[in-house]
Amino acid sequence: MINPLKQFLVEKTKFYKLGKAIDSDVYFNKTKELSQLEILKAPRRTEIINYFIGFVDAQRYLEIGVRNPEKNFNRLQCPIKFSVDPGVEFEENPVDFKMTSDLFFEKLAKNELEINPQEKFDVIFIDGLHLANQVEKDISNSLEYLSEKGVIILHDCNPPTEYHQRETYGFMWSPARSFWNGTTWKAYYKVRHQRDLFTICFDCDWGVAVLSKHPYPFFNQIQDGIQNEFYEFSILNKFREEHLNLSSFDTWVESTKLK
Ligand SMILES: C[S@@+](CC[C@H](N)C(=O)[O-])C[C@H]1O[C@@H](n2cnc3c(N)ncnc32)[C@H](O)[C@@H]1O
Repeated sequence: MINPLKQFLVEKTKFYKLGKAIDSDVYFNKTKELSQLEILKAPRRTEIINYFIGFVDAQRYLEIGVRNPEKNFNRLQCPIKFSVDPGVEFEENPVDFKMTSDLFFEKLAKNELEINPQEKFDVIFIDGLHLANQVEKDISNSLEYLSEKGVIILHDCNPPTEYHQRETYGFMWSPARSFWNGTTWKAYYKVRHQRDLFTICFDCDWGVAVLSKHPYPFFNQIQDGIQNEFYEFSILNKFREEHLNLSSFDTWVESTKLK
């Protein structure tokens, strides 16, 4: 017969060894360090969005993926603001359009919403479902309703490690724990090949990318010869600056003032 006390101690030792191995693992520790570094970076997305609202003299703002509006949406100073979210992560979901971005754009195109599809948005913040395929659709749909000098802002374009850019949000036991950027960077990297768009990505708050049809200073497109055919994280990690046009926000602001 198995001794229950012995069995208990064997189980406890097994978990202790596993926990100790994880706690001293080099990937876990490096990833933890990079998450902490990212959290300390400034400014946050809200400051950048408010800056661009002023920069393009925006009258109309749209946010796709809102969660708790107190964190960002309510802090933005734009005369007319709209919000879209199906309410996956925040039960209250106090937004204008309680639906997915796909349905929102479908209804907007059919003139089924209480907004005039002829009136363009000046700033659109895409922060909904962070999977490349969906982000690409959100960008493409947003471009239809973006004013000529307007900007699209994308959150989470600069994942610090391969674990932050995992596809499954719900898996919290990778070295990135609950931090998640999804695969948004892939949609951003892809759209940087589009010759009618100009982009920049600010190195803070997990990568805040800005896209426009207008060639704002230091916005660019991916240069010929830069390739990441299979969207490998290791290649992004090696060539972040070129892949993303990764830039310091403060330096960009100062440089544009001198232009
Ligand atoms: C990262 S949170 C948004 C955070 C917010 N923008 C901020 O800055 O604090 C992502 C939100 O996207 C929403 N979401 C998920 N799938 C979506 C979809 N298909 N269309 C629009 N929003 C979606 C979720 O419900 C969640 O509230």
